Amino acid sequence: MGKIGDGWTSRRGATQAMSEVSPSILAADFARLGEQVEEVQRAGVTMLHVDVMDGHFVPNISIGVPVVESLRRSTDLILDCHLMISDPDRYIEAFVAAGARMVTIHQEVCPHLGRSVNRIKELGAVAGVALNPSTPLSTLDEMLPEADLILVMSVHPGFGGQAFLPSSLDKIARLDRTRRDRGLDFKIQVDGGVNAGNASALGAAGCDILVAGSSVFRADDIGGAARTLAERANLPTLRRA
Ligand code: DX5
Ligand code: ZN
Repeated sequence: MGKIGDGWTSRRGATQAMSEVSPSILAADFARLGEQVEEVQRAGVTMLHVDVMDGHFVPNISIGVPVVESLRRSTDLILDCHLMISDPDRYIEAFVAAGARMVTIHQEVCPHLGRSVNRIKELGAVAGVALNPSTPLSTLDEMLPEADLILVMSVHPGFGGQAFLPSSLDKIARLDRTRRDRGLDFKIQVDGGVNAGNASALGAAGCDILVAGSSVFRADDIGGAARTLAERANLPTLRRA
């Protein structure tokens, strides 16, 4: 298994899709999910963030495998699954089988992180590792060459609609610097409290993928909100759409 995007380039033919806004459906109206997903797709996004919560690792329960299966049948957007669950190893295979093209697991719950990341890659998906705001970057020193993507949480995970933690900007900038210093090519994703006010600072700090729930799905113009974020962060994919 090679580098980033191997799990999806074959199907989409475009690693460029890794510079993106990934709208989080956690903030969508679930009764109108298909309709709202079409709106962001029309705006030019190519991925969709699916927040999976187990009421154990995080104090909230959200959605799981059946929703991923339904989305897979109704859209060709890349499904970016963020597993906020205590025992991700048990479910990696099920999410990939359901249609996840990106699977992100939390460092805090993976005692054998290298093994878990390899499993995701073996299954042909993009392997992401997420860090809570209180987890230092240094915990990933050994893993950075292995992971396809690092997700920097900019809120304490568990709920949508929380305020962006400003210290995340410095964490992202340090991660970007490490990436350049070590000549690595993982992507940097940020998640939590992302909006039109902080998108340009996030792009400048080195983010490749902005996850945004409330600021997209709670906007009057869902597609327009996604495009604004991409433009402010200077992410190429949506600007070309
Ligand atoms: C938080 C989730 C986020 C959440 C972001 O635990 O991981 O993906 O949906 O929502 P907003 O953009 O509303 O902060
Ligand atoms: Zn998320």
